[in-house]
Amino acid sequence: MLTYFSKVNFSQCASTPFICKLSNILKSANQKSIIVLEGAGISVAAGIPDFRTPLTGLYSKLGHLNLPNPESIFDIEYFSENPLPFYQIAHTLIPSSKIIPTPAHYFSKHLQDLGLLKRLYTQNIDGLEHQAGISEDLLVEAHGNFRNAHCIKCSRDYPISDFIKRINKFKTKNGTKPLFCKCGGLIKPDVVFFGESLPERFFKLSEIDFSNDTKAIIVMGTSLQVQPFASLISYAASNTPVFLLNKESVEGFEKEKNHFFIKGDVQESINLVSNILGWKHK
Ligand code: OAD
Repeated sequence: MLTYFSKVNFSQCASTPFICKLSNILKSANQKSIIVLEGAGISVAAGIPDFRTPLTGLYSKLGHLNLPNPESIFDIEYFSENPLPFYQIAHTLIPSSKIIPTPAHYFSKHLQDLGLLKRLYTQNIDGLEHQAGISEDLLVEAHGNFRNAHCIKCSRDYPISDFIKRINKFKTKNGTKPLFCKCGGLIKPDVVFFGESLPERFFKLSEIDFSNDTKAIIVMGTSLQVQPFASLISYAASNTPVFLLNKESVEGFEKEKNHFFIKGDVQESINLVSNILGWKHK
């Protein structure tokens, strides 16, 4: 949780110019003028691996499933034909109640509390933005979440508790058997798979959000490899600064004059910005 202290401290600015640029913008930003885009890198500190980091990312740990490629685990066509691999690891993907949001999650909540947050778009399916208290109207979970499940044939809804109960009931040595609805369709969490459309809300809101009255776009912990999410930054007006807080730069970033890369651990960068602005952790 962050609280607001009025003492602003720009003494660290010489060594971290883009962090200071971002802090300056936040200090004088108008109401509802900041957009945040998030990816798996911000949940790593909560104990949830990201997807593509070699050796530690989820996609590096799926060799035993003999998938055509790691992303097949979230491919709707592959899942419809070969549901077993997904069910084998589904229990590891469902966020545990012990997982708690990170400083980066609470940073967005603080932007919301100050009235600065225009919208938070996340690719994350762990629900930590929700858990941190981002309100429904300001949040776009572009790739869905694990709060519910549904039948891919008749669309019947299943509470995730029911999905988890079934996973436990049909547990085998290798995970679990596929879970079927009464109609014969497969039951799948409300996570958007490759080949499925993103929620209508994503398209509707992104069309109106990225206008000139946006003071900054903060992109945190994502490789920006997955479309259409990755294209959101291209909707920014040419005078809107886009800050990427990530361990590594990503393809296509820093090509524009308004792109600023803040390299390093996202939690540390967020702490620096918070310190400069006098936003302290309780
Ligand atoms: P990726 O795993 O592709 O990228 C995570 C990025 O975060 C990488 O560039 C890491 O270097 C960086 N990173 C990791 N830990 C970090 C840290 N502590 N500080 C700063 N940066 C860090 O994850 P996403 O971009 O979120 O789809 O992946 C996008 C989508 O691909 C996901 O939503 C998922 C996946 O297929 C679904 O879940 C349906």
